Amino acid sequence: MAAPKNLFACTECGGTSPKWQGKCPHCGAWNTLLEQAAAEAAQSGGKNRLSGFSALTATSKVQALSDIQAQDVDRAPTGIDELDRVLGGGWVAGAVVLIGGDPGIGKSTLLLQALDATSRLASALYITGEESAAQVALRARRLGLEGSTLQVAAEIQLEKIIAHIEATRPAVAVVDSIQTLYSDQLSSAPGSVAQVRECAAALTRLAKASGTTIVLVGHVTKEGSLAGPRVLEHIVDTVLYFEGDTHSSFRLVRAFKNRFGAVNEIGVFAMTERGLKGVSNPSAIFLSHHAQPVSGSCVLVTLEGTRPMLVEIQALVDSGGPSPRRLSVGLERDRLALLLAVLHRHAQVATGDQDVFVNAVGGVRITEPAADLAVMLAIQSSLRNKPLPKGFIAFGEVGLAGEVRPATRGLDRLKEAAKLGFSLAIVPKANAPKRADKSLEGIEIHAVERIEEAMDLVKGF
Ligand code: TYD
Ligand code: MG
Repeated sequence: MAAPKNLFACTECGGTSPKWQGKCPHCGAWNTLLEQAAAEAAQSGGKNRLSGFSALTATSKVQALSDIQAQDVDRAPTGIDELDRVLGGGWVAGAVVLIGGDPGIGKSTLLLQALDATSRLASALYITGEESAAQVALRARRLGLEGSTLQVAAEIQLEKIIAHIEATRPAVAVVDSIQTLYSDQLSSAPGSVAQVRECAAALTRLAKASGTTIVLVGHVTKEGSLAGPRVLEHIVDTVLYFEGDTHSSFRLVRAFKNRFGAVNEIGVFAMTERGLKGVSNPSAIFLSHHAQPVSGSCVLVTLEGTRPMLVEIQALVDSGGPSPRRLSVGLERDRLALLLAVLHRHAQVATGDQDVFVNAVGGVRITEPAADLAVMLAIQSSLRNKPLPKGFIAFGEVGLAGEVRPATRGLDRLKEAAKLGFSLAIVPKANAPKRADKSLEGIEIHAVERIEEAMDLVKGF
């Protein structure tokens, strides 16, 4: 009998076709047909979907939620504090973690360091598809990891990788990277969406069945998504992204999704000659050190996960040509246009004929709206060519009507600023501390309700 043929299934409607087509013959969607292995297609494709569900219902039972025992998950520390923080406390048995990031940012370095630390307490396996075992050994030597008990295999074929994991039964296995793997079951090339999806799904089943924590390394494509149009994000338990500017030595690892911990938690690392080192007090690195206050600079207290961080926002407003430019690095450009309009309308700060550039120092990316007030104060400071006072910080969201809205966990932000010796703050009214607090001694707090109030206040400092 001929070998079962692979099918192409539509990601929109689930309909199948024996050959690839640009348009799904069932629902008419374009570019949605993906190759599936014959065995998988039989389970999930087309009509068989329903029989798959009835098989499921036969083995599971309905229970009252209160009768189900909640189980705490087992966690093993990774040996790297900053990584533990983003993972929510360490490796979780049977979990699948995806680590994404630009090429060369430090994914392999971090995982090799983490696995070496893990292998001192439990067994760990590093599967490399991008580099040879000798190259990994060379990197380990550079990182000072001689004498490591870590197991290494250079392999890209999915079935052999599964066999290695089943044979060695490690507590943690890293697959570097998912884009290099291929399964014999599919004819498409490694790195194609079908291969990436099939390999990740097979490794996820293996993790759940064996209790091994599997870490998948994924490259981010030019469009900024993990290759395989985010196909992996919903399959895995945890998604971590490496951020940072390759020109600076600082790297942030951010939890983007985490079934076993908080999201938006960040780990901060510095890339050194001997690998990545955790930075336990990150506030200091995103500030530039000016001997005297300079115009166009405002320190923001931003909240990353549970950790407040001080970041310097710089603005440069300069007379522009016929079509003035607005440019931002580390902050959203659309938000900048919006803030400039609010400044003009509500605080009479006109920048219509000026080029406006803003930058978050240190290659950090800030997405929270609580940065608004600091951005606007930096712009005004640059426009007036008047520095903000020494030891000044600000945070707060600014609305289209010119109102200053509260930021989450304002007190924690103020405490962090006070701890680092900042002495003057402008904050939203709702974030002003209600009662005296010892840890806020030494910081003078001005609460504002509207943007024009904030602008007038700084003129008086
Ligand atoms: P790497 O971990 O290979 O990146 P990825 O796996 O994300 O593609 O990181 C490689 C970069 O890090 C490379 O440009 C060299 C630099 N590096 C150091 O600066 N110090 C070190 O100790 C190591 C191992 C790498
Ligand atoms: Mg790598």
